[in-house]
Formats: sequence, structure tokens, C-alpha cells
Amino acid sequence: MDVASLVASHGDDRFTLHERHLNHQMVRVLRTIGFDIDYVRAEGPYLFDRDNNRYLDLLSGWGVFALGRNHPTVIAALESVLRANLAHLVQMDLSTLAGILAERLAARMPPGLDKAFFCSSGTEAVETALKIARRSTGRSKVIYCERGFHGLTLGSLSVNGDEYFRDGFGELLPGMIRVPFNDLPALERALAGNDVAAFIFEPIIGHGVFVPDDDYLPEAARLCRRHGTLVIADEVQTGLGRTGRFLAVEHWGVEPDIVCLAKALSGGFIPSGAVMMRRKLFDALFDRMERAAVHGSTFSKNDLAMAAGIATLDVIDNEHLVENAERMGADLLSEFAALVDRFEFLHAVRGKGLMLALEFGRPQSLKLRTAWKLLETANEGLFCQLITIPLLKKHRILTQVAGSGLNVVKLLPPLVISDADRQWIADGVTDVIAQSHQVGGAVWDLGKTLAGSALKSRRTASA
Ligand SMILES: Cc1ncc(COP(=O)(O)O)c(C=O)c1O
Repeated sequence: MDVASLVASHGDDRFTLHERHLNHQMVRVLRTIGFDIDYVRAEGPYLFDRDNNRYLDLLSGWGVFALGRNHPTVIAALESVLRANLAHLVQMDLSTLAGILAERLAARMPPGLDKAFFCSSGTEAVETALKIARRSTGRSKVIYCERGFHGLTLGSLSVNGDEYFRDGFGELLPGMIRVPFNDLPALERALAGNDVAAFIFEPIIGHGVFVPDDDYLPEAARLCRRHGTLVIADEVQTGLGRTGRFLAVEHWGVEPDIVCLAKALSGGFIPSGAVMMRRKLFDALFDRMERAAVHGSTFSKNDLAMAAGIATLDVIDNEHLVENAERMGADLLSEFAALVDRFEFLHAVRGKGLMLALEFGRPQSLKLRTAWKLLETANEGLFCQLITIPLLKKHRILTQVAGSGLNVVKLLPPLVISDADRQWIADGVTDVIAQSHQVGGAVWDLGKTLAGSALKSRRTASA
């Protein structure tokens, strides 16, 4: 089978195929906002369409392409696995590559987190962390944060802090306690009964890019210790250098008991996740020989994922990607910060490393307020499309709205971006924000069209 020609010969059918057999609503979304671009090739931080136009990808496949796309080192590692004819997934055997990756990850963790459990996605890493916390503490309650996102399987959904994802799926796990992020008194009250297995959090909340105050996570970890509650850092998105540290918790010197990793772990090629934890937690799970298979997942330690993981860590080190993320992120953030005073719609900018957000809000002047209201009445968060759509159409920069009902545009660039890419982002962002302030201009024609489709879609749904 020649994949390139198979894809080329069916390229025009993909919308029909997806409408027929996959998520037809996603087809509608892409068409409505004009994101139905035919990308045919990708390299590093760039996507290319049929006409060889180059796009800068600040979505990174929701964070998996930290190394950029199609990194040659990871490709070479994967090709060498395929050529090596290894005895793969024997199951009643031990994977050498898994041992090596576990050792290399452990070397990058806070002290004591030297046991690894591999799996195939972020949500599976979170499910594992929840099970291990319950098993090792004998408690079943878990504290989680408002707006927090940890995946969409039922256990992870039970600690999801956003009704958009939870609604309509029936009863979720009992004993889960939601607290506002960045609120120590609320956390202390939730811990007070000394009956909580774990506190799970994203060091920086992905949906909206909410960065905690500097004392929040260290104090939260201290409170958890005092109440016998385990600290689970979900670093599925923030980990592996994204925020300018290998783990985001390093910004605050926090040492969790369990760290969840996934997304960028395999360089974006093979589904892969890892849970790093203290030995005593692992020992509580696998406490007798008969329980050696009590938790696991068939493909978790597959050689392709393990080799890609090892290669990914090499690339992160050799190309100094953690340092690059820190430097590029700091430069971008200061360029964006200068825009807040210039533009009424732009209320705040925030983030760490290359996990950045632009938050928009109600403007001061009457003319802009009327335009804002038109969009917000049609659909909360719609204003952001006046940023993301022109960014893609005019500047060929792919971004996303940071979460449902949020007026936050999120930038998650590959960690390999250059100074020229940084300038491309800064110029594009400045231009589209400026255009959004020209009420009556082309961008607001788009606004009216979007508001019209949002209202129509609401009327159809309620009919
Ligand atoms: C912080 C966090 N945890 C868990 C997940 C779930 O990962 P996956 O989609 O691989 O299941 C995500 C995905 O976006 C995430 O951002």
C-alpha cells in the first residue's frame, strides 16, 4: 500500500467520508469558520496546503507536536524499530525499550518518582493515577479544580471541571470534590475530613491558560501532605518542556507524588502516556505476585511508542527545547503585554513558556461595546473567532479558542519555533487585534455572518 497516493487520491473525498462515517459536526465547524484547508504536508512548526502555502501551526495537534512535525530523529528511531524485527509485545516478557525510557524519564522527575507506568493516552494516564491514589490510600474521594481538564473517559470526566464536557453522560464517579483553582481556603476545607485520596490539578489550566499565584501550588502540596492526600500533577499538556521547564511544577518547586505525561511524549507519532510515581504507590498497586497484571493496557509498552519516547527526550535535550520555549515564550508575552494598553478588546495576556493566552473582553467605548454585544448575545466566546479566523486566512497562523464560552485565544506553538516565527506571530496577532477594532471593516462583516449562523444554529437546536 502506498499511503501517499492513497491519501492523494482520496483527498477530495475526506469531507464526504467524515460526514458519512465520522464526526459530521466537526465537518460543519470547519466549514463554518473556514478552517477547511487542505493541508497536504507538514514539517517542523509548519503545515503546507495544496498550493504550497506555508502555515504556522500554533495548535500543535493540541500540544503533541512539541518537536514540530515529522522530526527526522524520531522518524529514524521509528524506522529502526520497524527494521529491527524485535520480539514486540510478547507480554509474558519484559520490554528493554520500556526499561530505558522509564529510567530516562525518572532521571528528569522530582526525587523519588522513579517508578513508571506506561499507557497510550492522557486520559489513560489520569485513570491510572486515580486508581493508584485510591488503592494506595484506601480512600476514594478526589479533589479537582474548576475548569480543569483531564481527559474524557468516565474516570477522568469525573474530575473534569467544565459542565460542557460532563453534561448528558449520567452519574459520574461519586466522592469527587470540585474546588476553584487558585483558592487555598477552599482546598483546605475540602481536605479537612482527612478522607481524600488525592488532589489532581493541571499546574497551568489548559482551557483558558490560567496560571496560579506563586504560593498556590507549594501551599496546596503542603496542605495535602498534612492531610494524607496525594498530589497528582497532570502534566499531560504542560510537561516535557512546554512551559519553559521540563515539568511545569518546577516553576514553583513542587514535588508531586504522581505525574501524568502524554501528548508530546512520542514526538506526536504514536499514542503514548506515562505515569511517574513514588515506589510505595506502585508497591500498593502491584503488592503481590498474583496481582502483577491487576492494572495495565495491551499496547502501552509497545516498541514504537517507547523508541519514539527515547528519541523525543534526546531531541528535547539536544535542541535545547526547554530553554527555547522559555525564551520565545517570554519574548512573545512581553510583546503581547504591550498590546493590552493599545487595544480595548484585549484585556489580559498570560502564560508560561510556549503556553500562552490572549484574553478578550467587553470594551469601554460605546461603538465597540455594541459590536461586542452582538457577538456575545449570539454565542458566548464568539468574539475570539474574529481573531482566529483572520489569523488563519490572512496571516496563515493556526490557533484555537481556549475553551467553551471563553473569550481566550490560546497559542501552543511547537517548542522549535525560531525568532522569525516569533516575529510572524507577533505581527499577525497585532494586525488582527487592530483590525477587530475597526467596526464596519471586513472583520466585522465576518462577525455579523458568524453571529447569524450562531443564532440560526441555536434556533434549529431548540426547535
Ligand atoms: C491536562 C490534560 N490531561 C489529560 C488530557 C487527555 O489526554 P488525551 O486526549 O490524550 O486522552 C488532556 C488533553 O487535552 C489534557 O490537556
